[in-house]
Amino acid sequence: MPIRINEAIAAIPVYPQASTYSFGGPLVKMSSNESPHAPHPAVAEAITAAGRNVNRYPDPSGSAFRAKLAETYDMAVEQIVLGNGSCEILLAGAQVLLEPGAELVYAWPSFSMYPHLAAMTGATAVEVPLTSDHRHDLDAMLAAITPKTKMVLVCNPNNPTGTFVDFDAINAFVGEVPSDVCIVIDEAYIEFVEGVDRDGLLPLVIEHDNVVITRTFAKIYGLAGLRVGYGFAPLAFKQAIDLVRQPFSVNLVAQAAATEALNHPDDVTERVMTTLAERQWVETELREAGFATAETQTNFSWIDLGELDEDAVVDGLAREGIIVRAGKALGAPGFIRASYCERAEHDRFIAAMRSFG
Ligand SMILES: Cc1ncc(COP(=O)(O)O)c(C=O)c1O
Repeated sequence: MPIRINEAIAAIPVYPQASTYSFGGPLVKMSSNESPHAPHPAVAEAITAAGRNVNRYPDPSGSAFRAKLAETYDMAVEQIVLGNGSCEILLAGAQVLLEPGAELVYAWPSFSMYPHLAAMTGATAVEVPLTSDHRHDLDAMLAAITPKTKMVLVCNPNNPTGTFVDFDAINAFVGEVPSDVCIVIDEAYIEFVEGVDRDGLLPLVIEHDNVVITRTFAKIYGLAGLRVGYGFAPLAFKQAIDLVRQPFSVNLVAQAAATEALNHPDDVTERVMTTLAERQWVETELREAGFATAETQTNFSWIDLGELDEDAVVDGLAREGIIVRAGKALGAPGFIRASYCERAEHDRFIAAMRSFG
């Protein structure tokens, strides 16, 4: 007899992986919103140095790393949470907040992990469609909150559409949500937003006991492979998620690398500038090639394929060695999501996209 996986877990939809193809040349990997740039050299050195100490377990509370984050963002160290990627903070948050009968509200399409949070806890997912311009509909999300709602996710900017909701609207939203509902604002791409104080929502965590902000070192810092995320959260949230996770979830090398990365804000600024230049170029080229795109504030474009067949485009790109995310897998057939790489790779991507027109 086969082993019996618990029913709630067996029902979890499989996380859609980007397809990879055997292609006889260099792949253009535009599927996972990673940074095309290696970590800063001092971070690479910190990784090497930390590698010499991996006979020891990491500091389970990440004290030096959390102190550095607290200093960088002028927050109390007690309000800093760490995770094995920000995914772990989301997963642990769902585990401690949700249960069968509870409701989780989020916009859709949004980050593909969100449906899992409801599925794995047996809670009900309440998906609120984005507006016609691919933005969160905060009024509709507010209307979707019931006495059963225990957690609300706001992905800002939103993955996969790249759209950004301004901070005034989020502040007003937080003011309306009942205080016993945990609002998680997922800021995985906040560094790529232009023309705002990117830390503008952090005071919400100090002013409200129900607001959590999550961020990651996987995108702008180029540390996706190390799995390190962080967040700002009320103490009750931090204490609860620490109960359900293994004590050493953020590994020793990751802690050292991310702490060092915080010493190089100029490098972050430079990475942002490079990304913004590529963003402008790719978006302009796509529009000239006849494709509509959502107004992105991230390191990826959300591309409307119009009359084109999505599978034909995704497969056609793959034959050219270009891997993107299919909209179908993200709940939005007829779209693709393409993360920015470097100019030579973008030349290949745009040439391929033009060939479909
Ligand atoms: C919106 C969003 N949140 C969180 C994450 C997860 O980041 P991490 O690598 O820190 O787990 C991602 C990664 O793609 C994301 O797109």
